[in-house]
Amino acid sequence: MTDQDIAAAEHTYLMGTFKRLPVTFVEGRGVTVRDSAGKEYIDLVAGIAVNLLGHSHPAVVQALTEQAGRLIHTSNLYYSEPQVALARRLVELSFPSRVFFANSGAEANEAAIKIARKWGKLNRQGAYEILTTDGSFHGRTLATVTAGGQERYSAPFAPLPPGFRHLPYGDLEAVKQATGADTVAVMVEPVMGEVGVVPPPSGYLEGLRQWCDEQDLLLILDEVQTGLGRTGRWFAHQHHGLTPDVMTLAKGLGGGVPIGACLAAPRADVFEPGDHGSTFGGNPLACSAALAVLKVIEEEGLVGHAAEMGDLLAAGLGELDGVTLVRGRGLMQAAVFEQPTARQLQMRCLEEGVIVNAVDDHTLRLVPPLIIQPDDLERALAGVRRAQAG
Ligand SMILES: Cc1ncc(COP(=O)(O)O)c(C=O)c1O
Repeated sequence: MTDQDIAAAEHTYLMGTFKRLPVTFVEGRGVTVRDSAGKEYIDLVAGIAVNLLGHSHPAVVQALTEQAGRLIHTSNLYYSEPQVALARRLVELSFPSRVFFANSGAEANEAAIKIARKWGKLNRQGAYEILTTDGSFHGRTLATVTAGGQERYSAPFAPLPPGFRHLPYGDLEAVKQATGADTVAVMVEPVMGEVGVVPPPSGYLEGLRQWCDEQDLLLILDEVQTGLGRTGRWFAHQHHGLTPDVMTLAKGLGGGVPIGACLAAPRADVFEPGDHGSTFGGNPLACSAALAVLKVIEEEGLVGHAAEMGDLLAAGLGELDGVTLVRGRGLMQAAVFEQPTARQLQMRCLEEGVIVNAVDDHTLRLVPPLIIQPDDLERALAGVRRAQAG
């Protein structure tokens, strides 16, 4: 099929949920992907913060191949060694907790929301309201799109489930004012991703932790985008010397294979048999891929590497023409342009063989693979400069 055939068939056979950029990728290796015409691109988007080890990393391919040859799926009616091994590793890397496996970030957050509601019934006379933030993104299911703080994603689907209240990100005082008898939890991204990489103001997350302790609320951190080394720590909350009661993960966990996880500390570990479930969640194939991802991140020191590469990336972005602000943490960065040129620049970058993500008219988001090297970054930034000049 030619690219034109694919575009025409997509229009006929796929629902119109996505506005595609005019390119069809067919293969990838490391930080590079190739389109159907054989043109190469340096990938600074990595499947939107998913391909932590780049494309088709040999360790992930090997884990998938071996597991696929042995056992792909059994269901959660039975014990599973890869699932237990992955849960143990995640707990060792984060905080004392137990894990529920899902297939996506939205599903991991659904689990977190259900935990909060059940916990409220057991511990807080039925309190159910979750405080979330304007601009946040937690997924596209009805509950998670309601939890998210972007009305354009939720308004078409009203009536929305009750029990969510949105407050300005970074405003601890607003959380204190909004807390009432019905409040059960605070749910935030430790760095807001989808809205354009917005780190928390100093003291915000620490203040939320303290407030949740004082008021007997759960602190839910959505680390779907920030987790697993991206910000220069295994988890973004580790920059702040605190642990959440509930943490959600997805995106990078499977190195491109769909998997999500919800971790609950003992205080929030309220699910009992029958409370929640998933046919595919934590299946052997996905868990084997995730175990391979974690092993490579650890063996190759990619968490510290992400911090170093993030500094280089931020410095390079700051030198681009027309950039008024660079914000982010580790390999999760955004460049904000004075003029509304970001979408056009995204297209021009594609022409120059660099994949970037325009989140709005002014802002580019860069979430490259953790394996990226200084010369890759230099080549990519040179491409962005050419795109600006052209
Ligand atoms: C912070 C955050 N939470 C949740 C999600 C939803 O994840 P998924 O698309 O896997 O459902 C995303 C996706 O962008 C995200 O960035």
